[in-house]
Amino acid sequence: MAKSALITGISGQDGGYLARFLLGKGYHVSGLLARRSSDSLWRLRELGILDEVRCIDGDLGDISSIERALEVSEATEVYNLGAQSFVATSWQQPILTAQVTGVGALHVLEAIRRHDPKLRFYQASTSEMFGLIQGERQDEATPFHPRSPYGVAKLFAHWTTVNYRESFAIHASSGILFNHESPLRGIEFVTRKVTDAVARIKLGKQSELRLGNIDAKRDWGFAGDYVEAMWLMLQQDKPDDYVIATGRTTTVRDMCKIAFDHVGLDYRKFVVIDPKFFRPAEVDVLLGNPAKANAALGWRAKTDVASLIQMMVDADLQRVRRE
Ligand code: NAP
Ligand code: GDD
Repeated sequence: MAKSALITGISGQDGGYLARFLLGKGYHVSGLLARRSSDSLWRLRELGILDEVRCIDGDLGDISSIERALEVSEATEVYNLGAQSFVATSWQQPILTAQVTGVGALHVLEAIRRHDPKLRFYQASTSEMFGLIQGERQDEATPFHPRSPYGVAKLFAHWTTVNYRESFAIHASSGILFNHESPLRGIEFVTRKVTDAVARIKLGKQSELRLGNIDAKRDWGFAGDYVEAMWLMLQQDKPDDYVIATGRTTTVRDMCKIAFDHVGLDYRKFVVIDPKFFRPAEVDVLLGNPAKANAALGWRAKTDVASLIQMMVDADLQRVRRE
């Protein structure tokens, strides 16, 4: 019998890639879809899977809608990817971020506990929880020190996941994923902001790119690789927490260089530093150690940062040409 999965955040970057991955494995895929006044389904359309997934109206702030989605989807695996996920916005909307990104996960776990505690649960945890890093390479044993309301909310969701595993024996796993990007990345995140700008500058539609802290370092991987790790975690006999990363880190500056070089331009002529994009507290560097996932899940990142950024620039060139 085909398995069924419910994905919160199905309209987001990871939601789209995970839905496509699970459909490829023969799953029935449902998604909790929050009501929006504008189109939020473009990624599912671009992946060509919109007609293959079942979207169920609901919101992470409304536990009754999550319970209904569990019933309607008949899911045996639940992937909680829904969140207010943009770090910069979390200082503007800290309470909404706490409610959606933090308490939202509790709503899903509590709905599972009441509906059927045998369901398997995945929580989208994040390297942002490491924040002010306590070790050169961060792994599952590295202490957390979040630096944003988003990081704090995710830490609540992370520990709630651990607590439901320990309290109710729910198969609840947490993937501590480092930054992962793709052509479907939201335009507000730095990689996509850069690759979109590179395409526009190359095609004469933009003249400069305004950025904040370009000395920040991130461990960037490809979202398409990372969703497989989420699925692998739920196929294990025992639930656990895993760091998912490439094990390499790159500055925003060098990421810009890769993007501009790809179209034969010098980034130094176009990048302008704008204090508006600096954050009240910064995560200066992230570098993950995915050794546990390598050994236990047999998972490895397949895409290096240069191929990733070049893939994103190529996709944005095509988009901008089509406009
Ligand atoms: P994303 O593109 O921002 O997607 C977030 C999703 O959450 C969207 O589908 C959004 O719906 C949905 N959502 C927002 N508020 C909601 C609410 N109140 N109720 C129901 N759904 C709601 O994020 P992503 O990059 O795919 O990341 C997926 C998850 O992994 C997120 O939890 C993120 O925090 C976490 N994460 C991401 C990374 C990364 O580098 N990408 C790394 C670590 C962890 P709309 O489209 O309608 O707004
Ligand atoms: N967005 C953005 N825009 N970031 C900029 C800019 C800019 O103009 N200029 C510099 N940066 C720097 C940020 O200050 C940060 O240090 C880095 O680029 C990456 O920013 P984002 O791409 O916004 O990602 P993030 O690291 O803050 O958060 C992402 O990764 C987390 C995992 O570590 C998000 O996807 C989170 O949801 C995720 O949990």
